[in-house]
Amino acid sequence: MRVNLNGRDLELPESMGERRLILFLREDMDLTGAKNACDIGACGACTILIDDEPAKICIKRVKDVAGKRVLTIEGMAAPDGTLHPLQQAFLDRGAIQCGFCTPGMVLVAHAFLLKNPNPTRLQIRKAINGNLCRCTGYQQIVDAIEQASTHYRRPADYPHPGIQPLAKAP
Ligand code: FES
Ligand code: FES
Repeated sequence: MRVNLNGRDLELPESMGERRLILFLREDMDLTGAKNACDIGACGACTILIDDEPAKICIKRVKDVAGKRVLTIEGMAAPDGTLHPLQQAFLDRGAIQCGFCTPGMVLVAHAFLLKNPNPTRLQIRKAINGNLCRCTGYQQIVDAIEQASTHYRRPADYPHPGIQPLAKAP
């Protein structure tokens, strides 16, 4: 079973297929950005991207990502540790308090901005409505996503060497 995890190809034994994906990432791969919170697919704290689509992985198994591309929050920053502009916008706008929801929020916003780099604030609110935040009141999160959208509108100027908005374009 092959899985591309944050740009790296992994070959996993079939026997690992039934392992819960959230535990595989957090315990086996030491990628602890995705949080295990409600455990029933309701809160969004465990969200990652699978083939560029947000997925709540507390209800998924490793076999669900066989042959697919997986992006976790750890894969958003550049290899030298430079934050992705979307991560930086969350910091700039104070869109983080406890941080529990933040990895899922950032990844959902990333998937959304890849498709819609020029969103209205209402569209941003709708995009994140499956991800609960108990701290920020959402205003700053919407501000951050709106700020970062400028980077997705100007991919030619995009300064980040890692995940680029047009990376998946043919
Ligand atoms: S922990 Fe997966 S949706 Fe809440
Ligand atoms: S920052 Fe605490 S849950 Fe969102």
